[in-house]
Amino acid sequence: MKGRERIAVLTAADFTTARLIDEAGLPMILVGDSLGMTVLGYTNTLPVTLEQMLHHTAAVRRGAPNAMIITDLPFLSYQASVADAITSAGRCLKEAGADGVKLEGGEIRVPHVRALVENGIPVLGHIGLLPQSVHAMGGYRVQGKTVEDIERLLRDARALDEAGVFAIVLEGMPADTARRITEAVSVPTIGIGAGPHCDGQVLVVNDMLGMTERPPKFVKRYADLRAAMQQAFTAYRSDVVEGRFPGPEHGY
Ligand code: KIV
Repeated sequence: MKGRERIAVLTAADFTTARLIDEAGLPMILVGDSLGMTVLGYTNTLPVTLEQMLHHTAAVRRGAPNAMIITDLPFLSYQASVADAITSAGRCLKEAGADGVKLEGGEIRVPHVRALVENGIPVLGHIGLLPQSVHAMGGYRVQGKTVEDIERLLRDARALDEAGVFAIVLEGMPADTARRITEAVSVPTIGIGAGPHCDGQVLVVNDMLGMTERPPKFVKRYADLRAAMQQAFTAYRSDVVEGRFPGPEHGY
């Protein structure tokens, strides 16, 4: 799709959301480990396990038969060795029905990417702001602002491209840095907080639906589900407490 059509990607973690995204015709759904925060209530993505990713990926697969489903390999499921990467990624395809996996990191992940691709597992790269390295980065900070940073990101992107990734997520970087990377690689770039020059965009579904209390600045809200859900829950409570629900029409 690079150069032909911009690629719209969303995350999903459950059957119903995946089904609605699939019905809307999006070509790819990412089962991102951000589900650790949005669904499981952790403060970052580090506690997410491979078992949890398999559980959520299987639900998304059942809801979305058409979209390409990519599972995020969670923290410590691939970093320690190439063998770990193959086993973890293989389980995502074999047990949960994923079409490929995403892993974080640039040049350092070349051996993992090569081995996965050689073993028939499509890989989505991820560079820039790396949530699994939140402690090493000193927080969720925009990357690629200095000349050295930009050079490093370009090296990372080219290395992943050569290693065989089918696309690269560019997270949290200035638009011009993302543009330079997009022009430097043969595969599509999928941006999140990386400006308009990427080949595609990805958003965390809870953010774009307005369910997140304080969404990041780069998020466009396409709905206000937080307010709608709060209103519905409050109205339901009052109806039950005050005897308005169930009415005669809600019974058998
Ligand atoms: O976990 C996730 O949702 C992600 C996206 C932010 C790209 O990795």
